[in-house]
Amino acid sequence: MILVTKTHLPVRKSFEKYVDRIYASNWLTNFGQLEQELTDKLKEFLEVDNLLLTSNGTLAMQVVYKALCLTGEVITTPFSFVATTSSLDWSGLKPIFVDIDINSLNLDSKLIADKITSKTSAILPVHVFGRACQVEEIQKVADANNVKVIYDAAHAFNVRMNNTGESILNFGDVSTLSFHAAKLFHTIEGGAIVSKDGNLIKECRKLINFGITGYDQIDGGGINCKMNEFSAAMGLAVLENIDFIMDGRAKVDDLYRKFLPSELIPLLVNIASNNHSYFPILLKDEEECLTVRDALIANNIMPRRYFYPSLDTLSYVGKQFCPISRNISSRILCLPMYETLLDTQIQQISNIIMSELSL
Ligand SMILES: Cc1ncc(COP(=O)(O)O)c(C=O)c1O
Repeated sequence: MILVTKTHLPVRKSFEKYVDRIYASNWLTNFGQLEQELTDKLKEFLEVDNLLLTSNGTLAMQVVYKALCLTGEVITTPFSFVATTSSLDWSGLKPIFVDIDINSLNLDSKLIADKITSKTSAILPVHVFGRACQVEEIQKVADANNVKVIYDAAHAFNVRMNNTGESILNFGDVSTLSFHAAKLFHTIEGGAIVSKDGNLIKECRKLINFGITGYDQIDGGGINCKMNEFSAAMGLAVLENIDFIMDGRAKVDDLYRKFLPSELIPLLVNIASNNHSYFPILLKDEEECLTVRDALIANNIMPRRYFYPSLDTLSYVGKQFCPISRNISSRILCLPMYETLLDTQIQQISNIIMSELSL
């Protein structure tokens, strides 16, 4: 069975080298030495000033909403994984959807201003599939309206601006990442908060540990979403292989592009690098999408309808309508993408699609 992704498992010895240190220290969580080491290594690798590890990407977002004291409405994209919307709803914030740009599949920055009201406290765009949003344009709208910008950068590990090489995580007030096992860099479950603002990260560090600020000292409310040492150990071992992972995925991407006609591959116009976290194809309509999906499944290949359904159709968000997102969502399919996918498998997947479409 070929799944849409395959978690990168480092060789056992490499993981065990870190696990041995956990056994030696007998320290399993609460800002341990491996958590600290992974924080430092990720800061250096991603070239960011401040980074806080968390137990997952969803709680990373919710902690940020709390730290920024968001209220009322938050403008966001309907074309994403459900956590983007559910994290707002769970935090008592109302998601207000702005439709996506048909080329980038990201929040259309030109449509944001019209949706801002006196209740808007932030904009929450997603760098979907790791492809960068129009960060400069979004910042201009945010500045003009005095609202915060939080990037859901769950897919955007090591994405850099084309002109400067700067990390995409440095834009907006803050970015959050997911290090779930399905992501190209992972810590089994995990996430991170990245910001240029050291004070914001300090506040988040307090919030992820029950509001505790020192021995016998509690300064306000909080929650528990610290990264444990076994997750940090996995992250350190995976990070040792990051070049192999990223290069391998780039090769898979190249091969798909060689075998499949370009009209199936969305343009995803971009201002930053592609980390090859996903390989989406766009079919003519939903019927064609389901036909291709079923043909792949019949051959034990499991693509995923990322992202379906369009989040503006969720019953709990009230009546909102984003036609472009609904249309894209109905006919997009993410093909298997991981660094060890074989050339013959990529050829096989492509052949099935071509034959189903009579191309
Ligand atoms: C866009 C997006 N945001 C948030 C999340 C949530 O991350 P986690 O699964 O680490 O909680 C995901 C997870 O896949 C995601 O794809």
